[in-house]
Amino acid sequence: MRVNSLVTTVGCLASAVAGVAVNPLPAPRSIAWGTSGPISIPQNVAVNLPRNAIVTDAWERAWNSIKQLKWVPQATEAPISSYQPFPTAAPTSSASSVPSSSAAAGLSDLSADLQAEVDESYTLVLNSNSSTLEITANTTWGALHAFTTLQQIIVWNNGLVIEQPVQIEDSPLYPWRGIMIDTGRNFITVPKIKEQIDGMALSKLNILHWHLDDSQSWPVEMSSYPQMIKDAYSPSQTFSHGDLKDVIEYARARGVRVVPEVDMPGHSAAGWQQVDPSIVSCAHSWWSNDNWPYHTAVEPTPGQLDPLNNKTYGVVSKVYNELSGIFTDHFFHVGGDELQTNCYNFSSYVQNYLAADPSRTYNDVTQYWVDHAFPIFKKIANRKLLIWEDLVLNDPHAPNVPTEGLLVQSWNNGLGNINNLTDLGYDVLVSSSDFMYLDCGYGGFVTNDPRYNVQSNPDAATGLANFNYGGNGGSWCAPYKTWQRIYDYDFTTNLTDAQAAHIKGAVAPLWSEQVDDTVVSGKMWPRAAALAELVWSGNKDPKTGKKRTTLMTQRILNFREYLVANGVQAAPLVPKYCLQHPHSCDLYYDQTAVN
Ligand SMILES: *[C@@H]1O[C@H](CO)[C@@H](O)[C@H](O)[C@H]1NC(C)=O
Ligand SMILES: *[C@@H]1O[C@H](CO)[C@@H](O)[C@H](O)[C@H]1NC(C)=O
Ligand SMILES: *[C@@H]1O[C@H](CO)[C@@H](O)[C@H](O)[C@H]1NC(C)=O
Ligand SMILES: *[C@@H]1O[C@H](CO)[C@@H](O)[C@H](O)[C@H]1NC(C)=O
Ligand SMILES: *[C@@H]1O[C@H](CO)[C@@H](O)[C@H](O)[C@H]1NC(C)=O
Ligand SMILES: *[C@@H]1O[C@H](CO)[C@@H](O)[C@H](O)[C@H]1NC(C)=O
Repeated sequence: MRVNSLVTTVGCLASAVAGVAVNPLPAPRSIAWGTSGPISIPQNVAVNLPRNAIVTDAWERAWNSIKQLKWVPQATEAPISSYQPFPTAAPTSSASSVPSSSAAAGLSDLSADLQAEVDESYTLVLNSNSSTLEITANTTWGALHAFTTLQQIIVWNNGLVIEQPVQIEDSPLYPWRGIMIDTGRNFITVPKIKEQIDGMALSKLNILHWHLDDSQSWPVEMSSYPQMIKDAYSPSQTFSHGDLKDVIEYARARGVRVVPEVDMPGHSAAGWQQVDPSIVSCAHSWWSNDNWPYHTAVEPTPGQLDPLNNKTYGVVSKVYNELSGIFTDHFFHVGGDELQTNCYNFSSYVQNYLAADPSRTYNDVTQYWVDHAFPIFKKIANRKLLIWEDLVLNDPHAPNVPTEGLLVQSWNNGLGNINNLTDLGYDVLVSSSDFMYLDCGYGGFVTNDPRYNVQSNPDAATGLANFNYGGNGGSWCAPYKTWQRIYDYDFTTNLTDAQAAHIKGAVAPLWSEQVDDTVVSGKMWPRAAALAELVWSGNKDPKTGKKRTTLMTQRILNFREYLVANGVQAAPLVPKYCLQHPHSCDLYYDQTAVN
């Protein structure tokens, strides 16, 4: 029945797209607008929902938002030639309306847990003749996505309306779609973390990768080692078990998985050193950027767990087990990035291990870590691990990292490392820094930097290609990644089908050296929404195969306004003039310039 009605309306899709002012973000995999005119929606829709607290609460939130916001789209999709500000036409007297008891949500698998690869599909159908709103989904999590779509297409035009009959069949391209927050470099409060989750739910992102700590601070209260919290920035800048559970539950209620990261053995000093200073190497060394052969860290402050001190594993085990009892996701991120070999000059254990057999290298030290730590990590039932790619590809790396039960997060060298990792048979999460690092382009944070002591712009001489790179006003990963750069990233380029099948999705990290509550939302949003559409339905028109970036423009500009209206402090992308005058701010008049 549903399939039949889809076939009959699909023919009017092309013209119908231009006929409505607003489309949801992310664009559904398949959306067909009708042409018979607006359908008014009553203030109170009695819904037939399954007995499931998450679904009923989510419906209530969505419906309250619809009623209270009375959303008038701010950036419409009318083409250049025919732009008229919305609203153009009120529903006519003949406009049909949805009978108040008609919304239905059928769910076939209510028990499906929110874990990797759960079915997130849904359909949403509003017929002109029957005027019933029908939502189907197999799981709770699919139903939640249907609600956030509905939220965006019910708009205010002298009453609540959906602009045309519509048929949506939707499901994500990739099961992993997320953002990363870092509460180790600077603290971020629970309410601000929830604000990020609100933005994620609206854009159908489903992974909050939470980099909990770093060498600089340990903000998590631990029962097994209460002394670790001494390395929080202040007694109030901490997360209790209750805070962690609160975030996990808030996220789950919005279809968002929280994947915790405790970065080990690198990026580790704070907290650990309070338990036993002997398990942390080089914590009090000079990081030595100015004399690179002696550097012990890529950024201050240094510190790495000592893989050859066998006391390390007892502490790691207790910390990991305690956190595994709180975080409910099957995946746990155990770090593994940026091991600095010089740091281990400060470890007699490592030095003795290397001296005992001249054929040993730092790759063996790294492998020693993998061989001793992974069995601890895998003891938890159903446990799967997420690691940074460095453990596999960097110098040093571990020559034997199992592919089984493992997801590898790629952040260096763009397509090159994605190609290598998938070629080696690893499942990959894309976080390429050149495209997806949301913290880049704000200049270096390290102080006493003589490269800034210049009286004319040093970048001017180097030309556009090097603009803002290096220390001359840039950061290591400059320039800033604009929403277009993120959206246009084709991270499966030149992969075989077998390699492409190893890509599980993408996460955009926002490292927090220069981020706390005051700026986190503006740096995250709305750029994270560009990633959200890229991994939900892609950056190309499914019919023509061409990039749809120029069509995405009005969608993301409207979505930014929508985020702000919903309490997410997203940054503006353009002068407001541009969103009110579609395509008047395009660089090229030719609408196919991006393809
Ligand atoms: C409503 O219209 C669709 C497509 O126009 C048609 O397939 C369907 O049978 C109609 N339903 C009713 C109840 O008339
Ligand atoms: C539900 O599951 C079935 C069977 O796997 C699938 O065909 C369908 O597309 C899924 N989604 C919805 C919304 O029904
Ligand atoms: C560590 O030892 C190596 C080899 O002896 C040496 O090249 C390097 O400079 C040392 N680094 C530090 C920080 O002492
Ligand atoms: C830990 O190392 C010490 C010496 O460094 C050794 O005596 C002890 O047996 C080791 N313990 C384990 C459990 O390997
Ligand atoms: C990736 O693979 C290519 C070709 O096999 C190789 O030359 C290159 O060194 C590899 N890069 C890394 C980072 O492993
Ligand atoms: C993809 O492969 C083609 C053909 O070998 C090559 O010309 C192109 O540069 C490659 N693209 C990238 C991004 O590596």
